[in-house]
Amino acid sequence: MKLFVANWKMHKTRAAARAFAEELGRTIGDGIAGAELVVAPAYPLLDAARDDRGRWRLGCQNVASEAEGAFTGEVSAAMAADAGCAYAIVGHSERRRLFGEDGPVLAKKVARCREARLVPIFCVGETEEERDAGLTATTLVRQLDALRSDASAQPLVVAYEPVWAIGSGRTATPEDCGSALVHIAEILSDRRDLRLLYGGSVTPENCRPLLGAPRTDGFLIGGSSLSAPAFATIARA
Ligand code: PGA
Repeated sequence: MKLFVANWKMHKTRAAARAFAEELGRTIGDGIAGAELVVAPAYPLLDAARDDRGRWRLGCQNVASEAEGAFTGEVSAAMAADAGCAYAIVGHSERRRLFGEDGPVLAKKVARCREARLVPIFCVGETEEERDAGLTATTLVRQLDALRSDASAQPLVVAYEPVWAIGSGRTATPEDCGSALVHIAEILSDRRDLRLLYGGSVTPENCRPLLGAPRTDGFLIGGSSLSAPAFATIARA
C-alpha cells in the first residue's frame, strides 16, 4: 500500500472541507486500490473532512508536547485521537522554522502520539544552505535523533521534505529523493514498521517518477492536496 497524506496547512473553512470530502468521495468511488489516503486539516475542520465510509483517514498537523494542563492554545495528541485522527504530522519544517520546534520538543511530541495511539508522520529535510554545504546527510542524522527513545516496533512514517522544495515549485529529483530515503532507511534500520514519504511541491504532473524512486512509499502533499481531483490523481499514480 502506498500512503498519500494531504497536508492542508492553514487553509479551508468547514464548508470548503465538506465540499472537498464530497468531491473526493465522488472521484475515488470505492477507493483507490493500493493507496491509503489521509487528510490532515486544521483541527476545526476534522469533522467536515471525515469520510463516513472510511476511504480516507484523518490526521492532524501538530500535537502539543505535553499531555494535558494549562497550555493555552495547545491541542493534545489525546484530543486529536478523540476527534478521530489516526495520524499526526510532527516536526514539519514550518513548525521547526516558524515556531522554533527542535529535537527535544519533537521527541516529546512523538511520545505523546504513542500514548494516544496516533501514528507520527515525522518530517525531516535539509535547508538550501545545508544542501549547498553538503550537509544533507548530517542534517538527517541530527533530526532523526529525536526518534532515538521511540520504540522500534511502533509504526512510524517519516517524510523527507527538503525545505527548499516545500511550496517552491522546485521538486527534488527522483535521484535526490531516493538517495535521501535510502539514507533514512539505513539510519532507521532497526525499525520494524517504517514507511517513507517524499514531500515538497508534489503535483499530478511530477508525481510518477518520484513514486518510482527507491524506498518511496508515498507522498506528503501540501498545495496540490487542496484540490480533491489533484489529490486523487496523485494517489492514482
Ligand atoms: P507542498 O507542501 O506540497 O505545497 O510543497 C508539502 C508540505 O509542506 O508538506
